[in-house]
Amino acid sequence: MSLKGKHIGIAFTGSFCTYEKVFMELEKLAAEEAVVQTIFSDAAQTLNSRFGNAADFIRKAEEITGVKPMLTIPQAEPIGPKSLLDILVIFPCTGNTIAKLANGITDTPVLMAAKAHLRNNKPLLISISTNDALGMNMKNIGMLLNSKHIYFIPFGQDNPEKKPNSMIAHTDLLIPSIEAALSGRQYQPIIR
Ligand SMILES: Cc1cc2nc3c(=O)[nH]c(=O)nc-3n(C[C@H](O)[C@H](O)[C@H](O)COP(=O)(O)O)c2cc1C
Repeated sequence: MSLKGKHIGIAFTGSFCTYEKVFMELEKLAAEEAVVQTIFSDAAQTLNSRFGNAADFIRKAEEITGVKPMLTIPQAEPIGPKSLLDILVIFPCTGNTIAKLANGITDTPVLMAAKAHLRNNKPLLISISTNDALGMNMKNIGMLLNSKHIYFIPFGQDNPEKKPNSMIAHTDLLIPSIEAALSGRQYQPIIR
């Protein structure tokens, strides 16, 4: 499937260690001539860390996509009524955002985007990246796995010895996961 001209939302949440890989995939989407709208959670757009400065990440997203990132709940809200996206990817998705999404909480631009997009019965793809995937957040991931229109980029344990509850998505599978979700399918195998 060609992604040329597809309207793809890429929603950043605060898993900063993943951003380098996320930007590599963003470049690939741009090369495919997808129309990419980025959205940043409050944490993603304000927290500076050893992985880089929030302002630089926002600038880089705009440079790659040519589109201004959405940074507020009011900016993200029209995704619903105007049906702006073919697919939304939470890329990367923190444990915090997973927990809120599973419980119907809508207090960041990314969660507003997800709620607005899901009202149109269109696919939401999740790229998990969290140290508590096999702990406190397992129940929330389970709820989302069993929810209509929600798909996952395949994921697995990244460091079972040192971080036994941590799981992370294989971000390099973004494009085939998008293609499958746009056809209403979960890209398999989901656990790898
Ligand atoms: C340097 C740094 C790295 C972080 N990495 C992760 C991560 O990989 N996964 C995660 O779930 N939370 C991570 N966090 C915590 C989240 O940023 C925090 O829970 C935040 O409230 C998430 O908000 P959001 O989900 O709205 O973006 C990290 C925080 C910092 C400061």
